[in-house]
Amino acid sequence: MLGQYYFWCLAVVIIWLQVYTVSARDLRTVTEPKTPQSCTALKATSEDDTKNIQKALDSCARGKAVELSSGTFYSGPLNIPSGVSLLVASGATLKALPNPTLYDLGSKTCGTQDQYGVGCKAFITIHGAKGSGIYGKGTIDGQGEEKMTGKNEAWWKMPANTNVKVNARNAPRLIQINDSVDITLYQITLKNSPLYHVASSKTYGLTVWDITIDTPSSAPNTDGVDPMGSQNVTIAHCRISTGDDNVAIKAITAPSRHISVLNNHFGTGHGMSIGSEITYGASDVTVSGLTLDGTTNGLRVKSNTFRGGLVTGITYSNVCMRNVRNPIVLDMEYGRNVVGNLTPEFRNITFTNVKVLTDGTFTFDGLSDSKPIEASMKDVHIKKGSKWISKHAKITGTWAEDATGITCGTTGNV
Ligand SMILES: *[C@@H]1O[C@H](CO)[C@@H](O)[C@H](O)[C@H]1NC(C)=O
Ligand SMILES: *[C@@H]1O[C@H](CO)[C@@H](O)[C@H](O)[C@H]1NC(C)=O
Ligand SMILES: *[C@@H]1O[C@H](CO)[C@@H](O)[C@H](O)[C@H]1NC(C)=O
Repeated sequence: MLGQYYFWCLAVVIIWLQVYTVSARDLRTVTEPKTPQSCTALKATSEDDTKNIQKALDSCARGKAVELSSGTFYSGPLNIPSGVSLLVASGATLKALPNPTLYDLGSKTCGTQDQYGVGCKAFITIHGAKGSGIYGKGTIDGQGEEKMTGKNEAWWKMPANTNVKVNARNAPRLIQINDSVDITLYQITLKNSPLYHVASSKTYGLTVWDITIDTPSSAPNTDGVDPMGSQNVTIAHCRISTGDDNVAIKAITAPSRHISVLNNHFGTGHGMSIGSEITYGASDVTVSGLTLDGTTNGLRVKSNTFRGGLVTGITYSNVCMRNVRNPIVLDMEYGRNVVGNLTPEFRNITFTNVKVLTDGTFTFDGLSDSKPIEASMKDVHIKKGSKWISKHAKITGTWAEDATGITCGTTGNV
């Protein structure tokens, strides 16, 4: 009788453990994507190829891909229809024409700065799609450094508008994925986006696998991959060097949850971020097997009373950092003067097997002792001489100033 009782207790504990250990991640079983077959193969004309590419995409059978097979293609904005993919073959390049009028959403502000920054459509849009993707070992180049048609400046250099307080740039994102299901980006190289490289909104099932983002550290607002209000997201085996957040999880219009960031390598950039816009909450995120080599921040959760919400169930493990100024930043006062009446809450954030090889500043900046930042640490090794700033924060577990070694593996501390 007693034996049976223990058996059931054990069974309950095992089931609970399974639920516990699997929930902080993409709930799908994600494996390496397979490149779809081509419905057609296009060669670059060296003229404006927008119409040719769009026509091919619109008439491609679902489940297949339009292949850009060779040469340099120049194009304005493109839409990838539901079920269809774009394949940029090895050696081929797709360049975004730097003409603001092509991307303008009607307010004639694209290519300028104002207080909104929503004047341009993206270079590539995937909207309301199921099973679409972008594949191939070729390159998509946003030409952010190129002088805009009809202007004297490049997308990256556009001067601030002196008439407004907040200046946001109206420039195209490279890839925008909205209201979609089961979207894949595989192997492609993305560079020089005028703004964010990849952003998703309310997308459920997004796999970003083995892609490269290679953009200068000086390029403004060029986030790498930004899942926003999205769920069941996997970002794996990628190399991301850019001028802003390498990855930033946001929740402006819907919650972001069940996100796995696995075995990636970040070069320059502002690090692995959650926030600052997390009004709808960010939860159940696993970051594992990450090397950050030369980012300004390492693992960062940032928000404030203007964009705040609940961040919980975040696990960081097997992370190695080198030359990172701010290796861990949990900051509820991000952008000091950005205030409102929301309440950011950071709870259940765990750091396990994290190694930081060079000294830096660790910041835990909460808002009040009644709702402190709650984080825990296990096997965290930092460099002697690091600075530790902690305010309204409850950090449990242990860490030590005993990190040794001079290089990280390619994907984390494994
Ligand atoms: C996430 O994936 C799981 C497993 O496939 C599925 O049951 C769940 O509905 C998905 N969530 C969303 C929001 O699509
Ligand atoms: C995609 O979603 C974002 C955020 O919700 C929105 O600002 C943008 O206008 C949407 N774009 C398209 C093409 O639907
Ligand atoms: C902490 O987060 C993990 C991962 O999402 C979750 O499974 C667990 O239930 C959370 N624990 C608490 C006490 O909220």
